[in-house]
Amino acid sequence: MGVLKIGVLASGRGTNLQAIIDAARDGRLQARVVVVISDKEQAYALQRAAKAGIPHFFINPGAYPSKDSYERVIVDILRQHEVELVCLAGYMRIVGPVMLETFPNQMMNIHPSLLPSFPGLHAQRQAVEYGVRFSGCTVHFVDEGVDTGPIILQAVVPVQQDDDEESLAARILEQEHRIYIEAIRLFQEGRLMVEGRRVIIN
Ligand code: GRF
Repeated sequence: MGVLKIGVLASGRGTNLQAIIDAARDGRLQARVVVVISDKEQAYALQRAAKAGIPHFFINPGAYPSKDSYERVIVDILRQHEVELVCLAGYMRIVGPVMLETFPNQMMNIHPSLLPSFPGLHAQRQAVEYGVRFSGCTVHFVDEGVDTGPIILQAVVPVQQDDDEESLAARILEQEHRIYIEAIRLFQEGRLMVEGRRVIIN
């Protein structure tokens, strides 16, 4: 098993990206982040990539006539960098067929709830407002839906009485950073097998 080449797509601050970069750097992962792509020019994730000396690109979706043509550009960049696993890390777009067909079961996402509860935006706020006692986070393979793909790993996080969106998000984020690394490690070791909706860990 060689060093896994990872491409990360991010739209925001990029703490999950940083966690992956750090784990790859300090040897917890046999992997290297070879490229970072963002749909937001101001995404701090791009600065993190720059600081780490990782090639990074802002691709403006508004500059393309369709999702397909935008995603073809992304796929070209990922291919040029020989990416073997795509990690979505706070990437705020629904992935279309061009990317899905290029990277079948080679694309992961992290979501801040115990899916299938609270998919979509503001998952932590949804959890607080619903009044659940436990929430958490989920790493899953990406399919055509919103946060619907086969689940790889989950971590449970208690919701406290006085939690608001921010405090719960912070507690969940610590676990995100941990299980995203763990899921990538399982992938790198060739231990994940997708059977329908289920991911078997060998
Ligand atoms: C995380 O909560 C992740 O689960 C969600 O978006 C947020 C991204 O945070 N998909 P960061 O940019 O990795 O700090």
